Amino acid sequence: MTLDARQAPALENMLNETRTFPPSTDFAAQANAHQELIDQAQTDRLEFWAEQARKHVTWKVPFTKTLDWSNPPFATWFEDGKLNAAYNAVDRHVAAGNGDRVALHFEGEPGDTRSVTYADLQREVSRAANALAALGVQTGDRVVIYLPMIVEAVVAMLACARIGAAHSVVFGGFSADALRSRIADAGAKLVITADGGYRRGRATALKPAVDEALSGETPVEKVVVVRRTGQDTDWTDGRDVWWHDLVEAADIEHTPVWVDAEHPLFILYTSGTTGNPKGILHTTGGYLTQTAYTHYNVFDLKAETDVYWCTADIGWITGHSYVVYGPLLNGATQVIYEGTPDTPHQGRWWEIIEKYKVSLFYTAPTAIRTCMKWGEDIPGKYDLTSLRVLGSVGESINPEAWMWYRRVIGGDNAPIVDTWWQTETGAIMISPLPGLTSTKPGSAQRPLPGISAEVVNDNAEAVPNGSGGYLVLNEPWPSMLRGIWGDPQRYIDTYWSRFKDLYFAGDGAKKDDDGDVWLLGRVDDVMNVSGHRLSTMEIESALVSHEAVAEAAVVGASDDTTGQAVVAFVILREDHAALAQSEEGSAQVQETLRAHVAKEIGPIAKPRTILVVPELPKTRSGKIMRRLLRDVAENRAVGDATTLADSSVMDLIADGLSARG
Ligand code: WT7
Repeated sequence: MTLDARQAPALENMLNETRTFPPSTDFAAQANAHQELIDQAQTDRLEFWAEQARKHVTWKVPFTKTLDWSNPPFATWFEDGKLNAAYNAVDRHVAAGNGDRVALHFEGEPGDTRSVTYADLQREVSRAANALAALGVQTGDRVVIYLPMIVEAVVAMLACARIGAAHSVVFGGFSADALRSRIADAGAKLVITADGGYRRGRATALKPAVDEALSGETPVEKVVVVRRTGQDTDWTDGRDVWWHDLVEAADIEHTPVWVDAEHPLFILYTSGTTGNPKGILHTTGGYLTQTAYTHYNVFDLKAETDVYWCTADIGWITGHSYVVYGPLLNGATQVIYEGTPDTPHQGRWWEIIEKYKVSLFYTAPTAIRTCMKWGEDIPGKYDLTSLRVLGSVGESINPEAWMWYRRVIGGDNAPIVDTWWQTETGAIMISPLPGLTSTKPGSAQRPLPGISAEVVNDNAEAVPNGSGGYLVLNEPWPSMLRGIWGDPQRYIDTYWSRFKDLYFAGDGAKKDDDGDVWLLGRVDDVMNVSGHRLSTMEIESALVSHEAVAEAAVVGASDDTTGQAVVAFVILREDHAALAQSEEGSAQVQETLRAHVAKEIGPIAKPRTILVVPELPKTRSGKIMRRLLRDVAENRAVGDATTLADSSVMDLIADGLSARG
C-alpha cells in the first residue's frame, strides 16, 4: 500500500486551486458555530465532548466518565450513562411541546406524499416497538431491515433502538446473496422488508430477495412485510406477517428500554479490501453525541425554521447519521424521497426543494456531476432561493463541480460544506464550519472541533504543509466504530496495524500551505463508485465464482460522472475461451458476467467494462499489479512494468485489446 502515480494528477490540480470563499457577514452573525467552540475543544478536548454530550443528548442516568482509552483501540465513551436513542430522536421533542412539528415530509416516487409530525412518529415508533417485542425481539437481538426509502424505514430503525435491539440495514439494491451473508453474520432473528418500492417509474420487488436469502438454514424466525407497491407477493405462513396488521393492532404506548451508553445501536456492513464485508459496530451514547453535534454545527440547523434534506438512502451510513439520528435528535424537519433524481423528469430534486422550501441540502458529488451533465437550465426553472447551506459527501468534490454547485444551486451565496467521514467514523470528522471557514473548492479543510487528524508519511511522521501522505486519526472520537461484529482481531488488523497507535482510514491526503486537508482517494484496494464503497476483491471473487472465469482482476478507473468505475480484466477458462473470439460472443460474455456480479453482490457492483485478456500482470510473488491495469483502463501509457514476473504480459494484453478494437 503506497501512494502511487494515481495520486499525482489530483495533487497537481489541487495545488493550482487557490480560490477561497469567506462566509458572508450575515451568515456569520447568525451561525450556530463560533470561534469559542474551537477554543473550548482546544482547551480541554474531553470536557468539550462531555459538554456536547450533555447539550445534544438527554440522559436517563447522567454519565460521570467521558472516555476510557485504557485498552486501545477499544474505547468506551460516557460509559456509565444510560439513555435511549429513540427517546432522544422522538419523545423528548414531543415532551418539549414540539409534537406538532413535522419530522418527515415523505415524497414517494409516484408522487404520493405524507407528512409525519414528531407526535405521529412517537405513536408509530411505539406501536412498532410493541409489535416487534410481541414477535419475540428482545434487547440485544439483531434485526435486519431491507426497505425502500419510506417512512416505515425510519420507524423500523427507531423501533429497534427503542427496545435496544441492534438494527442492521441492508441497502435495497443489494442482492439476495449479499442479504443472506449479512443476516448470517449478524445472527438476525427478524427481517423487516416490503413487497417492493418505486424506482425509475416502476414497482421493484424486494420480498423475493428476502425469500431467497432465507432459503435453507437461517437464524431468522419472522419476516415483517410493509405493503408499499401492492404487487403480488409470495407468502410463507407462520413466518411472514404484514406490518400493517401487526402495527395497527399494537398499543401506542411503549416505555423505551434505557440502555448503557455502550449498548450496540446498529451494525452496518461495508466493503473492505478483502472478500467478505465487515459488520461495523456502532454503540449508543457517543454515536448520538457526535451525529447530533455535527448535524447542528456543520449544517447550522435552526430546528424551528429550517427544512433539511439529505438525499442518501438509509442503507448507507449517511442515511443512518444524517437522515435518521442526527436530524431527528436535533428536532429537525426534513424531506425524505423514495426515488431517483430523474423520475419522472430531470428536475425532480429541484422541484422538491422548491415545494418544501428546503434550506439545508446534503448530497454526493456524483449526483452533482450528473445534474451538471443534464444542464443548468433544468435547476434554473425552479426557485432554489430557500437554500442556505449545501453539503457534499462520499468522495472528493472536484473544483468544477463545487463551483457549479455553489453558483447554480446555491445562488453564489450558500456556503458549501465538503464533509469527510466514513462508515467507521460514524459521523463527520473533517469539514468547513459555515459561518467560520473560508471555503476552498475541493477541500474538506479542517478536523471539526474535538476531532484530531493528521497527514503522515510511511513512517507515521506528520508531513509538512504542502505535502501528501496518509490521513490518520490520532485521538479517539465519540462516534468511532467500536469494532467489527464478531471479529475483534480484524478490527485491530484492519484499522490500527498500519501505523502504531493511529487509526488509518485508507485515504491518501495532502495538506496545503494553510494546513487545510485535501482528500486524494483511497490508497487501498477499495473503489469509490458514485460515493459507494466497493471492494476489488469482492468483485473479483464474484467473477471467478462464474464457471466461465479462470481469473479476474478488478480496478477502479476514473470516470467523469461516478468518480470511479469498475473495470474488470478476466481470463476465461479454456472451455469458454472460444466464445470471446467473435465480437458477438465477447459481448455476450460481458453481459453474462455483468449480470452475474449483479446477482452475487448487487447492481451497483456491475463492472462498467469487462475486458477478456490472455494473462494478468503479476509480480514474482504472484501479486496482481493493478496499477498497470489501471493504466490500461484509463487509456494511459502503461507505467513501469519491470517488477513483473513476465514483462511481456502487458504487450499481450495490449495486443489482444487492440486486435478487437
Ligand atoms: C470513504 C468512506 C461518509 C459517508 C459516505 C461514504 C470517501 C467520503 C469524502 C469527502 C473525499 C470522501 C473516503 C472514505 N469519502 N467523504 N468529503 N472527500 N473522500 O462512506 O462508504 O464508509 O466510504 O469515502 O475515501 O474513506 P463509506
